Amino acid sequence: MERYPGKEVNPSPLFEPLIFKNGVIMKNRFVKGPMSEGICSWGDDVRTRGYPTKGILNVYEKWSKGGFGMSITGNIMINPHCLEMPGNGVICKENWSDELGELLKKWADSSKHHGCLAIAQIGHCGRQTAVDSSTQLKFNPGLGIPEYEYVQMSLEEVQTDIIDRFVFAAMKCKEAGFDGVELNSAYGFLLSQFTSAKHNKRTDKYGVNAIREHIPKGNTFLLGIKLNATEFLFDSGAEGVNYAAEMAEYFEELFDFMGLSGGTTEPIDRPTSDMPARFAQRLEFFNTLHQKLTSILKTCKLFPSGFRTVGGMVDALKDGKADGIQIARAATSEPDLPNKIKSGEVKSILWTKFPETEFRLHVDCSGSQILAMSNITLTDGMSPSHGIPMFTSEEACKKYLDQLSEFQKTKDSRESPVPHYLEFIDN
Ligand SMILES: Cc1cc2nc3c(=O)[nH]c(=O)nc-3n(C[C@H](O)[C@H](O)[C@H](O)COP(=O)(O)O)c2cc1C
Repeated sequence: MERYPGKEVNPSPLFEPLIFKNGVIMKNRFVKGPMSEGICSWGDDVRTRGYPTKGILNVYEKWSKGGFGMSITGNIMINPHCLEMPGNGVICKENWSDELGELLKKWADSSKHHGCLAIAQIGHCGRQTAVDSSTQLKFNPGLGIPEYEYVQMSLEEVQTDIIDRFVFAAMKCKEAGFDGVELNSAYGFLLSQFTSAKHNKRTDKYGVNAIREHIPKGNTFLLGIKLNATEFLFDSGAEGVNYAAEMAEYFEELFDFMGLSGGTTEPIDRPTSDMPARFAQRLEFFNTLHQKLTSILKTCKLFPSGFRTVGGMVDALKDGKADGIQIARAATSEPDLPNKIKSGEVKSILWTKFPETEFRLHVDCSGSQILAMSNITLTDGMSPSHGIPMFTSEEACKKYLDQLSEFQKTKDSRESPVPHYLEFIDN
């Protein structure tokens, strides 16, 4: 199976522990990035939505046994009406039960093998809601993207529908044994609608630190935030970077870590003139933004993404571009990538052959790999990659595209919208 070309390098810096400002220690620098699994329970009745399944436990056991120092769940939604997709985890008063509490404990346990830190990503989809809707910004199809009809929440709604819900979910994760939560403030979700100067037109005062206030000081519960660099790509690049810098100064105090999506921390070893102009411009913007963030964040640890080679990961740590290496897509092809890097077996990630510019396709195929992981329980001596379809050949990618096209055509007529991703048959 083809991999990205990777140079000979000593991987040991990647296996040095990282100490957070609250004293919690991550055993190495590998962070499994959040990826929506699409396999939690689904029902028209909101009380039945978002319960973790046996499949979830299968998936998370593979990542923690595969050597990650931290494993962040996919979106767990705090409002049962505002999901990113059917099959998201959900934690809220409407669906709460003792059974959900027990299942969350199992989810946390499955993520904690070999000292891996278990982090639950909690979020509210806001204008990106795919299921039902009761959001701050309602999309008005008549206006066309990216015009939205802005519906400002009242201060009371901000308290009851956002702050109280985030606090409820965070506390339930803590009780279940998760080591922390990450607030999803990326991808146009509700929190990013507040942190984005483009979308937030409010004139009143409002802050995410309400959650911090509910977590006693000196505690060992980690609080992180996920940002997507694209959120700051508006109007003019410089304005976006300056605004992100302002946010980072604020976040430095509040959070133990920041996950950053967008762009690539590792330089792409081919001229940007080969790439579509928009893609190249974005890469340039992401690089400038990333440099700015690293110059500001000191105690809040930065976990950027977009890594392909062990050399690139080691250089990012050495050059102060990263405190931890966030790996999402590559972790669905190889849940035990950290173990393989530690043993010297691999120098880079597998090369999935869909075009780099087609992120949506990468998401679909990673989702299908997660589904394959969920169908097999790890047993002694079994490789965590067992049964995962690979997309390292043009032929496998073509086969996938054919099945995906059929799957999408039948999406509305399926008996249940869960599992969310295509179950790929590789024969
Ligand atoms: C299948 C899939 C699902 C994702 N779901 C989430 C999510 O629930 N929350 C989130 O913050 N990011 C999500 N992402 C984005 C990743 O966490 C990550 O930021 C992005 O894929 C870039 O990292 P990579 O180059 O290592 O893949 C998802 C990505 C994929 C591929």
